[in-house]
Amino acid sequence: MASKFQAPRGTFDVLPEQARSRARLERAATTIFSRAGYEPIATPAFEDTALFERGVGKSTDIVRKEMFTFEDKGGRSLTLRPEGTASICRAYLEHGMHKLAQPVKLSYLGPFFRHERPQAGRYRQFHQLGAECIGADSPLADAEVIMLLSDLLAELGVPGVELRLGSLGSFEARRAYLDDLKAHLHDHEGELSQDVRERIDINPLRAFDSDDEGTRGVMATAPTIVGQLEGEDAEHFEEVRALLDAAGISYVVDSTLVRGLDYYTRTIFSFVCDQLGAQSEIGGGGRYDGLIEQLGGKPTPAVGFAAGIERILLALDEEVPAPGRDVFVAIADPEQRGQAMALAVELRGAGFSVEVDLAGRGLKGQLKHADRIGARQVLILEADGGAQLRDMKTGEQRAADTGKLVEEMTGGES
Ligand code: HAM
Repeated sequence: MASKFQAPRGTFDVLPEQARSRARLERAATTIFSRAGYEPIATPAFEDTALFERGVGKSTDIVRKEMFTFEDKGGRSLTLRPEGTASICRAYLEHGMHKLAQPVKLSYLGPFFRHERPQAGRYRQFHQLGAECIGADSPLADAEVIMLLSDLLAELGVPGVELRLGSLGSFEARRAYLDDLKAHLHDHEGELSQDVRERIDINPLRAFDSDDEGTRGVMATAPTIVGQLEGEDAEHFEEVRALLDAAGISYVVDSTLVRGLDYYTRTIFSFVCDQLGAQSEIGGGGRYDGLIEQLGGKPTPAVGFAAGIERILLALDEEVPAPGRDVFVAIADPEQRGQAMALAVELRGAGFSVEVDLAGRGLKGQLKHADRIGARQVLILEADGGAQLRDMKTGEQRAADTGKLVEEMTGGES
């Protein structure tokens, strides 16, 4: 009977057959993070609303339109986290992590929430995995976090991936650039879409993202920040590029790359995948040298990324088969239920995957069920107290000694 309830709009259930490829992805990510010394961190699913307003930026779509914000019973404004970086910087400050050896390298994996219009690859509750390297200004740190994501996508075998790389320069360079860009947009106001025109002074970079034909024409001749990088900003970008070249990681420099968060300085990057349609960004990130200070700490350089778990899974489009079971314990007589359970517990303790019949089937039904769940062997407890071990692949059956089951199971090899 179908329930009258459904998962809320923009959310989804992860069913067991989907959980397997998810688990494979999570294992691969955890291994890659830990091999590079990125320790796991977990932060709450909700934070003070002001943290995201301050961290992500009041002019961004995320803060303006997409946050799940609510008042708690104490009248505090809280928000379900739309992203992880601001929370992790808050935790870094709150726990005095600046006193640890720098940089502090952290990794995370969990649910995030944005009130967006749902479509393939875009949800209201989605999952990210990410890494943040806080306290290093070296281009090596930028290259390292890019390599972590590149390695993960390669290890999983995600097809059709392209890395796009850009730089926004320091805050000062970015401010000067934004003035030039605004001037260019004001010069061509009549050709811009209404949405872009209204936001020239709030968020001019968004114009690069526009699908509107008139706006695209204006942007084709707009100044780009990569073209204007100077001094240390230009050097930093050059070094990041040289490190990626040396590591054999291919990328395209995209001078129109913009990201939907305000905290970025210098390096920004985006991994896109041609299997994904409109929501083609699998993951991205960049440097955010001003964020910790913005949140009340000392100036602290940092860089990181996050990738969308659902988007990686969509691009992989794989089915991981059910693992099967080592043993199914079948009973000829309900009297043997206690013994069956005890044997199952003993075998599970020895590392085997074991199921017993929980549905009160007859012996024939139990063998059928064992086959259905992919059991490799069935231990049949016979009515006369004997036991048989049946190999489900060959159909061979032999007498088994329930006192020496672990040896029996491994064919006497243990
Ligand atoms: P972001 O680009 O907003 O960056 O999100 C990172 C990734 O999360 C996206 O590339 C996309 O794969 C996935 N994603 C975002 N929104 C959705 C959605 N509604 N449904 C499904 N997937 C989605 C950040 O969040 C930054 N915190 C990344 C970062 C870390 N920068 C520095 N450190």
